[in-house]
Amino acid sequence: MALPIAVLLSGSGSNLQAIIDKIEAGGLDAEIKLVLSNKAEAFGLARAKKHDLPTAVLSHKDFPDRDAFDAAMIEAIRAAGAAAVILAGFMRILSPAFVAAFANKILNIHPALLPSFPGAHGQPEAANYGIKLSGCTVHFVDEKMDHGPIVIQAAVPAFPDDDGDTLGKRILRLEHRIYPQAIQWLATGRLKLEGRKVRLSDADLPQADMSGAGPCLINPALEQGF
Ligand code: GAR
Repeated sequence: MALPIAVLLSGSGSNLQAIIDKIEAGGLDAEIKLVLSNKAEAFGLARAKKHDLPTAVLSHKDFPDRDAFDAAMIEAIRAAGAAAVILAGFMRILSPAFVAAFANKILNIHPALLPSFPGAHGQPEAANYGIKLSGCTVHFVDEKMDHGPIVIQAAVPAFPDDDGDTLGKRILRLEHRIYPQAIQWLATGRLKLEGRKVRLSDADLPQADMSGAGPCLINPALEQGF
């Protein structure tokens, strides 16, 4: 049975699009029961409507505090029949009550290699820091921001001429690949939480890689002889 999910967003929704496309291509065993935005103007809502997906807008500004806003979201998500919550560019911190309501069933994607550059500006902060590798992270959501157990990470090179925009675009292409994969692992019950560690069951262990001799990303590339 497909995993019933709610996708929460605040903006463009390109990650939502990647999820929709993978479901429609038959590669992701999930059903989007609700696309929920805290911003009425979020383009992600238009993407959802184009695919006849149920949408809702709940503005945090209409609620007295975070707990009241989160309680309304919990109600809307439950009413839609979703069992898991996928944060796709949802720019609000979730209360402990929300995290508890969907325990170990909330995923987030972040545009940096956590625990580096958490927060709302991961791409420009990494670019301005002069980092040589950045990337994206899918993780379970816990009470702390951009903190929960990590499911998958992908790395991209960063260059001296990068800014948040150019680096962000490079990262986003990988977000669209790793997020549907992580959701598929959740949907098929393959993610086992062991404290901070997430084990992928039935995965072939990459024996060659464990020595460090396998594929890796080095930037700038090593020159001949190194
Ligand atoms: C994505 O880059 C996502 O990783 C980021 O917002 C963007 C949303 O893009 N999320 C965060 O920064 C969370 N801290 P999208 O609306 O096109 O999917």
